[in-house]
Amino acid sequence: MAKGLTGYLGEERIRAWNDAIPDRYSVRSYRKRPVREDALRRIEELLRGFSPLCEKARGYLITEGAQRIFTGLLGPVGRVANASVAVAFAADFHLPRHMEAVGYLGEGIVLEATSLGLGTCWMTGSFSRERVLARVNLPAGWKVIAVTPLGYGAKRKTLGDSALRALFKSDSRKPLSEIVTGLPRARWPKGLKEALEAARWAPSPGNSQPWRFRVDKDGVTLYTDTGEVNFNSVKRLSCGIAMLHFEVACAASGIEGTWRFPRPGVPIIAKYRYL
Ligand SMILES: Cc1cc2nc3c(=O)[nH]c(=O)nc-3n(C[C@H](O)[C@H](O)[C@H](O)COP(=O)(O)O)c2cc1C
Repeated sequence: MAKGLTGYLGEERIRAWNDAIPDRYSVRSYRKRPVREDALRRIEELLRGFSPLCEKARGYLITEGAQRIFTGLLGPVGRVANASVAVAFAADFHLPRHMEAVGYLGEGIVLEATSLGLGTCWMTGSFSRERVLARVNLPAGWKVIAVTPLGYGAKRKTLGDSALRALFKSDSRKPLSEIVTGLPRARWPKGLKEALEAARWAPSPGNSQPWRFRVDKDGVTLYTDTGEVNFNSVKRLSCGIAMLHFEVACAASGIEGTWRFPRPGVPIIAKYRYL
């Protein structure tokens, strides 16, 4: 029986998600075309999570009036155009590590969508929470944390979309040398560079790239640029996304490991310990 994430997802999905990592980018302009039913069913399979790390979060598919939940980031600039479907990501706000769970679960859905030829765009700030709540029933104590539109990307981006991509420098990332410390590269296990590259290309709000990694002999520690300890921080959401990218790429190249979490108050998000 395969261990770790491969045990939960299977080798085929690991390969599909690993291939989707370099293909994914934020899509804010869509074609006026309904999403295929079989693709929606594949997304639906993942809404309740795909591994124990997702337990504190859930996705909700919005198929009625999805476009109406989106607002602009700066006035109408950055407003999603022609979304026929959306997914809202929610979590139990009182539980520790709920933000990491949202990022990890949501990025699984994003990578699945990418592998199905669908565009997505994580959004924590360009939508109306009230309009989402009018369309989904959340358990008591749960909050809507983020949404993504889902659909076929338009051939031409809107001006707002192009403007935001330029503003956030969305097509580039910090080099590994700026975000990774610890053992020199010559002592990294085979496949680790690719896994850190996969994490580096994770999306983050305004392309802020708040994750940092330390490579040791027994594994890789993830923390934030500011040593975040607050469980409600959006940086933790970004870390959840990067954790999934890293783990998928590790699984694809045979680096087996599991995430370990420190006690609350320690400025470490998690450590991926090799098995
Ligand atoms: C948690 C999160 C929240 C985001 N919120 C918004 C948002 O409110 N509005 C928006 O237009 N883009 C949003 N983005 C998209 C980022 O700007 C985008 O991921 C980043 O610029 C990198 O570009 P890429 O996704 O094309 O690689 C968000 C991304 C993440 C991960």
